[in-house]
Amino acid sequence: MTDQTPITFYEEVGGHDTFVRLVDTFYRGVADDEVLRPMYPEEDLGPAKHRLTTFLEQYWGGPTTYGQERGHPRLRMRHAAFHVDPDARDRWLAHMRAAVDELELPPLHEATLWDYLHRAAYAMVNTFEPSGIGPTAGPRAAASFPVTSAPPSQPDTTR
Ligand code: HEM
Repeated sequence: MTDQTPITFYEEVGGHDTFVRLVDTFYRGVADDEVLRPMYPEEDLGPAKHRLTTFLEQYWGGPTTYGQERGHPRLRMRHAAFHVDPDARDRWLAHMRAAVDELELPPLHEATLWDYLHRAAYAMVNTFEPSGIGPTAGPRAAASFPVTSAPPSQPDTTR
């Protein structure tokens, strides 16, 4: 009897080494990006690298380490705290494009991987506001909107 188990995309493109290379190159770009770098809360990008690597490996049929460590991906929700506007998306995609190119995959694999990353990045956009205002800008956002006039203060008749 022959083993009919289909080979996964993860295995076809070279397994763990390929995803480590992809994410390493991507994060070299992020580290020098004046818009993206400040969005990453941790000084050390190592843990963020690990999360993205394990997520992508799991997505493409590799080990399920991401799920064991982080649970359900809920990526839109996990990005809600960050200001992902079209500029951030395009920068993310530019660094990812350079990283995909460095892998030098066969054209069909390259197109499959890129198609997913491109669609996922468009889906992650959560604001069209310039940075500093909008739902993800934090407490400063409220202060940047015109404040509706407060009711006139009543004369204090208790004194
Ligand atoms: C569109 C532009 C994007 C921006 C600006 C962005 C930015 C960020 C930031 C700042 C973090 C927090 C770093 C961390 O703690 O891990 C993060 C986490 C993450 N991002 Fe993105 N991201 C983008 C798109 C994507 C896409 C397209 C994917 C998947 C294909 C993705 C996958 C992840 C994963 C897996 C995490 C870790 C989630 C967790 O377990 O906490 N991101 N991203």
